Amino acid sequence: MSQVEQMQEENGRENLAAAVALDSLADWDRTHDCATLGLEHLDQTVVLMGWVQRRRDHGGLIFVDLRDRKGITQVVFDPQYDAEAHARAHVLRSEYVIATRGMVRRRPEGMANPKLRTGAIEIIVSDLKILNTAKTPPFQIEDEVEASENIRLRYRYLDLRRPKIYRNLLLRHNAVQLTRSYFNEGGFMEVETPVLTKSTPEGARDYLVPSRVNPGKFYALPQSPQIFKQILMVAGFERYYQIVRCFRDEDLRADRQPEFTQLDIEMSFVTEETIYSLIEGWVSRLFRELKGIDPAPPFPRMSYAEAMDRYGTDRPDTRFGLTLVNVADILAPCNIRVFQQAVETGGMVKCIRLPGGSSLTRKELDDLIEYVKIFGAQGMAWIKIQPDGWQSPIAKFLPEDVRALLSKRLGLETGDIVFFVADQKRIVHDALGNLRVRLGQQLRLFDPETFNFVWVTHFPLLEWDHEAKRYSAVHHPFTSPTEEDMNLLEEAPEQVRSRAYDLVLNGTEIGGGSIRIHREDVQERVFRALGISLEEAHEKFGFLLEALQHGAPPHGGIAFGLDRLVMLLTGSSSIRDVIAFPKTQKATCLMSGAPSEPEIGQLLELCVRVEAQRRT
Ligand code: AMO
Repeated sequence: MSQVEQMQEENGRENLAAAVALDSLADWDRTHDCATLGLEHLDQTVVLMGWVQRRRDHGGLIFVDLRDRKGITQVVFDPQYDAEAHARAHVLRSEYVIATRGMVRRRPEGMANPKLRTGAIEIIVSDLKILNTAKTPPFQIEDEVEASENIRLRYRYLDLRRPKIYRNLLLRHNAVQLTRSYFNEGGFMEVETPVLTKSTPEGARDYLVPSRVNPGKFYALPQSPQIFKQILMVAGFERYYQIVRCFRDEDLRADRQPEFTQLDIEMSFVTEETIYSLIEGWVSRLFRELKGIDPAPPFPRMSYAEAMDRYGTDRPDTRFGLTLVNVADILAPCNIRVFQQAVETGGMVKCIRLPGGSSLTRKELDDLIEYVKIFGAQGMAWIKIQPDGWQSPIAKFLPEDVRALLSKRLGLETGDIVFFVADQKRIVHDALGNLRVRLGQQLRLFDPETFNFVWVTHFPLLEWDHEAKRYSAVHHPFTSPTEEDMNLLEEAPEQVRSRAYDLVLNGTEIGGGSIRIHREDVQERVFRALGISLEEAHEKFGFLLEALQHGAPPHGGIAFGLDRLVMLLTGSSSIRDVIAFPKTQKATCLMSGAPSEPEIGQLLELCVRVEAQRRT
């Protein structure tokens, strides 16, 4: 063992920069990356630079898998070829940064690695520069890493070295470039809107920033550039887009981050159709160029009412069937208490038929019943259509004529199972909608490489907020009601349909938008329906209301969650895998330690007294 190696062992590789004599790059120029070389380069002298993926010692030779952002090339140190380089190579460890000069040669018979792009060759090294040492990484830099996500986020710079994450971010970069060129070619102009601004009503909590020069006053970080993009339409810009960071303080899930990126768009003098075809052109271009798939526009449309009725959600995954069927009319007359009760109290009875599902075991059935309870269902009835008859806890309540009606409506066949939930509408839809998705995933009822888009249209304008005891906007308060429903605004606000639309991909909402209200009088009526007094409206969005008085053109737009879209394009299961420096479920950054406690002086300067007092 050399002295340096001994030190490596002894000091746990803590102080390696001191132990290993480091080289400078000096006049070395990299000639190739680690993914390029092949048999066509035989006998060429090349200079490669990168990180040590792995060092293996074999029969006096030292092999190093040298990795850079593009790939891996095997470099070989042979004492017969260059004794000095070979001697130095003994100190190399994972993640050391090195440069090697050497000659490309064919790998010996039987040693080629067809899995590696450069697997036919290796570099026999004549010169080695050790540019830096590295601590032993807390996890191996490989695609299939075993480390927990928290460890990966703590050492995000190492995680980002993993080829998979690098590829994700590269695809994201390409998606952004394609997006910019598509909208630039379409006559759109990218305009930056403020980050220190006023609250925008997108339904989440705001992140607030205290203003030092205006003591006691706070900016809100934008939940979206909604109001500013509408004002750009009043300003006559006609076609605006922006790739923009938005901030929402909300409960986080796998497809949500507290700060995320939108592709935000607004256009003047348009109807829904113009927006649909513009977006279909953009999405098709992304999928063609990044995935080699043509999603074949125009995309299907589905009203919100139909989506809720058949899929139990406004985010229908249309890659598989198992749609919800209303059977209240057939089952209400039977003597089944829960079904009768649900119908009597204004609820419903719906079911899902799973073809071939009668082979589910009792345990599997119990798991599914427990699952729907998460969504508020009190239970779930089922019927198995067995060759020797119907098997079900409710079989004895189902006379022949009811069975015949059910068979006809559901198209029942031997081997099927049917799941029933009876409850209030929201619970039935939530329970069966989620059960449907779970069955689809569990039983692999769709090809994961299929991409099904659907426009969901005609959302309700308002919904009743039980806590606040007033209506709230389903989309946001600037969304236009449909012409036909405008006269219901005062008498039956809950029946008013809006001109809002979402684009849904495989059950995920990737974008949403609407045709806006461009008339001040309509905007005021909608505020009234929302229980927002004119005073309050003026205080919150007075600048928009005022702008509407200055010749606002008809306009509309949409915004896409870029992170979500890239997540689906890369087949990632979490939005965190397509964001360079994401936050955890608790909105923290494990690498930087944000958010952190500010200095007391800062708080005093900002007049944030409560916190300052608590800490003193
Ligand atoms: P909306 O609130 O529907 O609309 O947002 C648009 C899209 O942004 C994505 N998104 C998110 N992505 C990651 N993390 C989050 N926390 C998050 N929240 C939303 C979703 C969503 O479809 N101003 C309107 C658009 C408009 O009307 O033009 C708006 O922001 O993919």
